[in-house]
Amino acid sequence: MVNMKPSPRPIICFRPIQPSDLGTLEKIHGDLFPIRYESEFFQNVVNGRDIVSWGAIDRNQPSDQSDELVGFVTARIVLAKESEIGDMLSYDPSRSDQTLVYILTLGVVEAYRNLGIAASLIREVIKYASSIPNCRATYLHVISYNNPAIRLYNKMSFKCVRRLQGFYLINGQHYDSYLFVYYVNGGRSPCSPLELATVVLNHVRNALKSISARLWRNEDRKSPKWPKCRETRCLISTTQSRRNMTAECIGCECV
Ligand SMILES: CC(C)(COP(=O)(O)OP(=O)(O)OC[C@H]1O[C@@H](n2cnc3c(N)ncnc32)[C@H](O)[C@@H]1OP(=O)(O)O)[C@@H](O)C(=O)NCCC(=O)NCCS
Repeated sequence: MVNMKPSPRPIICFRPIQPSDLGTLEKIHGDLFPIRYESEFFQNVVNGRDIVSWGAIDRNQPSDQSDELVGFVTARIVLAKESEIGDMLSYDPSRSDQTLVYILTLGVVEAYRNLGIAASLIREVIKYASSIPNCRATYLHVISYNNPAIRLYNKMSFKCVRRLQGFYLINGQHYDSYLFVYYVNGGRSPCSPLELATVVLNHVRNALKSISARLWRNEDRKSPKWPKCRETRCLISTTQSRRNMTAECIGCECV
């Protein structure tokens, strides 16, 4: 755990995460999440490669600690048409440039919780997403038992649009996730009958896919060759391999 006692009167400031944060960032992720992130992810965050980030620091700490991260949020831009919530956006197929901001990780060290830091970090992401004219929403996954995080997203007016069964695979056990969305720039969930019908059809298609995947998985359990992590969009970036994860995830980032 990052052993930092909060100063008597914390002065919380926000800044982009930078290369000097590497060690602390890795440490906090290791402490807070049941999933191991690879070093490529941290390198991408601190160097701002395809990932945007905000760190929270306490300026009222003694000078050697006044620039230490006490919280962070990381996110990246994805194309709406390639995202799993494309169907939740009243997506206009003629606008292939529409984007979303996907929150990858969010955390606050324990001593600094309940001060509104996470809420402020999320507000930064929403502000950022709103500043991108073709961005329609920011969204994230959260594991179904993470009540503090779920409370926070509800409080921040995120909409829970889906429950994804067995989305995470952690130490051999499946866990569901919720998908939360916050619409920006006129983005909205579908509401015309045609849009709703499309969503329902997509749900049915996904449910069928998930059932057949489960059947296939059960079949496959009998064979020793089952790859542990079957989803390609797992953790951080599509290019990352998942071989070093002690806990694995089947498609997500924020837990
Ligand atoms: C989830 C998490 C990020 C929340 O961080 P946080 O900084 O404590 O969150 P906030 O302070 O913004 O809000 C949390 C609570 O504090 C309350 N709060 C906000 N500002 C406050 C203030 N100034 N004084 C007192 N309480 C405050 C909020 O109302 C909220 O309470 P409630 O939801 O119980 O009513 C943190 O618990 C965490 O890092 N958990 C481990 C990692 C994790 O789960 N990340 C999310 C993955 S999806």
